[in-house]
Amino acid sequence: MMKKIVSLAKRRGFIFPSSEIYGGLANAWDYGPLGVELKNNIKQEWWRRFVQRRPDIIGIDASLLMNPRVWEASGHLETFTDPLVECKNCHSRYREDHVAMNGDRYVCSNCKGMDFTVAKNFNLMLKTFLGSAEDATNVVYFRPETAQAMFVDFKNILDSNRCRLPFGIAQVGKAFRNEITPGNFIFRTREFEQMEIEYFVKESEWEKYFDYWLEEMKKWVRDIGISEERVHYVDVSDGERAHYSKRTVDIEYDFPFGQKELYGLAYRGDFDLTNHMKASGQDIRYMDPETNEKFLPHVIEPTWGVDRTVLAVLAEAYHEEEVRTAAEGESATRVVMKFPAWIAPIKVAILPLAKKEELTKIAKKMYEDLSQDFVCEYDESQSIGKRYRKQDEIGTPFCVTVDFDSLENNDVTLRHRDTMEQVRVKIADLPQEIKKGLDS
Ligand code: GAP
Repeated sequence: MMKKIVSLAKRRGFIFPSSEIYGGLANAWDYGPLGVELKNNIKQEWWRRFVQRRPDIIGIDASLLMNPRVWEASGHLETFTDPLVECKNCHSRYREDHVAMNGDRYVCSNCKGMDFTVAKNFNLMLKTFLGSAEDATNVVYFRPETAQAMFVDFKNILDSNRCRLPFGIAQVGKAFRNEITPGNFIFRTREFEQMEIEYFVKESEWEKYFDYWLEEMKKWVRDIGISEERVHYVDVSDGERAHYSKRTVDIEYDFPFGQKELYGLAYRGDFDLTNHMKASGQDIRYMDPETNEKFLPHVIEPTWGVDRTVLAVLAEAYHEEEVRTAAEGESATRVVMKFPAWIAPIKVAILPLAKKEELTKIAKKMYEDLSQDFVCEYDESQSIGKRYRKQDEIGTPFCVTVDFDSLENNDVTLRHRDTMEQVRVKIADLPQEIKKGLDS
């Protein structure tokens, strides 16, 4: 299944290996023309839902590189580590909980050796230097989560906005981790994107808002088209939680390679704000306008990985079906990506039945008009059957075919992806019909 998804993603221009003509870079991926549309649809809907339509959440877009003292205060420099073991024979390195096992012994998947070093803590922060001198004073780190900027900018946000508890700060952006064993396509990479909210509440209300955000995350999971039976909500035990968290629920999905974390929801207490206030020496407390009391709010943090969302959406959408229709040829396997219409990268494919000027002229004009409102693709190559197959493979909800009857009747065939049903629609009614279909 993963092989099929990775192959389709490359063949159709969703996602391909980064810098491939130079042999690629291990576990780095580029989003192609369809991938970027799909990913943008997800990020834009998230932003509309959680920022644009909510008076209690505001957005920021912070710098990827921050003062290194941020990571000292947040605890990342000391504790953001994974246990690393090394094969003594070939020196391949593994995250301890990712090594293959034979009984109770580790096995090197490279040389099959079974002699390993004891585990040591490996820090996941990705380091670089700022400025011309590569010395310790110029070391900076790419952020390993977007979250810290929301805490570090807390005072500026309070000073420039009328924030009343509970309120949230949201951000979408890149994060970097020097993962020991990245892999499974875009599931675990060293550069990835997150969509995060830090939701600030009174300590006495944290449980109420934790439950509230769990429900919001469940709704999101439903709306991206993920089957409920493939999602698991796992309360993380004391020993397994991140250093900052007092309660965490991992939202796990049955990826084709197993049940793994898709999203997370954590109660971070006042851990971050307290540490930044201490380390910076700045008073970053919130002042309650009714009591004039100053205090540090507590934080509920729902976090979504963008790339893992894309992967779950691809896995969920992938279908193979046996079809036989007179109009579209012999019995064949139809590969169809059944994305929810709002996620589909292309909404409408415009297909003149033949490469005849009288048809292409109408089809091109239709492309010009419809692409004002919808992402469209114009395609006049190959047989109509092959073009339908291609659009099914990239998950286009609607195909519009301009044929010779269109010249007489000013109408076209509108084909629905999932049912393959074809109906005649007047050209003038098309925008409305498509909008109705996308909204349903
Ligand atoms: N601010 C909290 C935080 O960063 P996390 O569980 O470490 O929590 C949040 O990361 C989400 O980011 C994960 O649920 C996952 O979706 C995504 N993520 C984490 N590491 C990733 C990686 N190496 N590659 C792709 N996505 C990753």
